[in-house]
Amino acid sequence: MFPKTLLTRLLNIQYPLIQAPMSPLTTPELVANVSNAGGLGTIAAARMTGEQLKNEINRIRSLTDKPFGVNLFIPPNQSEISSQAIDSVRKQLKELLLDKRLNNCNIDIDLLRVELPRDLFPEQIEVVLNEKVSVLSFTFGCLSEDIIKNCKQLGIRLVGTATTTKEAIFLKERGCDAICLQGSEAGGHRGSFLTNDIEAIEQSTIGLQSLLSQTTQFIDPTSYPLIAAGGIMDGLGLANALISGASAVQMGTRFLTCHESTKLVPEPHRKLLLEAKNDINKLRPTVLTRAYTGKPARGIQTVITDFFCASENKAKVILPWQVQSQLVLPLCKFAAETKQVDFMQLWAGQNYARCANQSAATIVNQVIEQARDVLKC
Ligand SMILES: Cc1cc2nc3c(=O)[nH]c(=O)nc-3n(C[C@H](O)[C@H](O)[C@H](O)COP(=O)(O)O)c2cc1C
Repeated sequence: MFPKTLLTRLLNIQYPLIQAPMSPLTTPELVANVSNAGGLGTIAAARMTGEQLKNEINRIRSLTDKPFGVNLFIPPNQSEISSQAIDSVRKQLKELLLDKRLNNCNIDIDLLRVELPRDLFPEQIEVVLNEKVSVLSFTFGCLSEDIIKNCKQLGIRLVGTATTTKEAIFLKERGCDAICLQGSEAGGHRGSFLTNDIEAIEQSTIGLQSLLSQTTQFIDPTSYPLIAAGGIMDGLGLANALISGASAVQMGTRFLTCHESTKLVPEPHRKLLLEAKNDINKLRPTVLTRAYTGKPARGIQTVITDFFCASENKAKVILPWQVQSQLVLPLCKFAAETKQVDFMQLWAGQNYARCANQSAATIVNQVIEQARDVLKC
């Protein structure tokens, strides 16, 4: 038996290990197998319609009778998209394609449609409530008072994401049952919401150890569950987080190369993550970038991240969240299909060189065994 923590008791799970939702790269098999192994699997539902989410929940319920979570993005306040800014980004992308070759690419940047995305959140929440899922985690903000009340009435546990201590206090005061503290090492999007997307890169990039230590000065970790995320790849990371006050860890990047993820993670992305561990020359840096989606996110440096990185004399125009991606992702998708890795979207946390080709259950078991060794429990 692994020692119980506040979070394992709260969620009724065996181990203090959560598989991070990774939209759109999380398969139902991954979620179910992590839950079956004693952790908490999480559906990355951000881009799903209500119907897709319902089907996903049913599929996972056919694979496990253990608790699992659903993760959603809090929707932004939609604002008009400036046509001048869209034209600037189209022009920039054409410059990029002239300068750096994306071979055999016939995509006409001028023909790519840009529109305000459909708000899927109301239908997603309806399914979460109807299906009475065990855990609802969310990022980029907080749920409304009404939704929080409805979830509480149904016994749905709420986990918010914070990238600063201020955000953690904000989420706790609004009634979250636990907070996931996301250190700046983390792969994928930063969950920041008390700063805007531009400030977030500069003001909210606190490493996990500092974020956890600072937060435990204001939130007592012996009576309120904190979850540590960012750069945790093994049992040492889990043990360290538990010693530092966390009640569990949330791991994303480590699960990107597991067997259950091969269907959704493009092969060149998987290869880059796996080959870094044996060859220092293949260990590429990761960067926090708004290049792909308009929101800060961590991934491996590419031609696209370099291009949109504001240089001293020529800052680039970047469109807002959910709009920038409509022009950039078609290029990334083509690059993935044709294995031109420098133009791909390669989400990864800073500690990705510890990725391995294993099953999800092996990862959970190894992490727990190693933590047990370190903690002598
Ligand atoms: C590919 C990828 C996609 C992600 N998508 C989501 C998401 O949909 N929702 C969310 O709350 N967090 C998302 N995250 C962030 C994770 O919840 C978590 O903070 C992060 O994976 C932890 O750092 P690590 O990747 O170093 O383990 C994503 C992370 C990755 C790597």
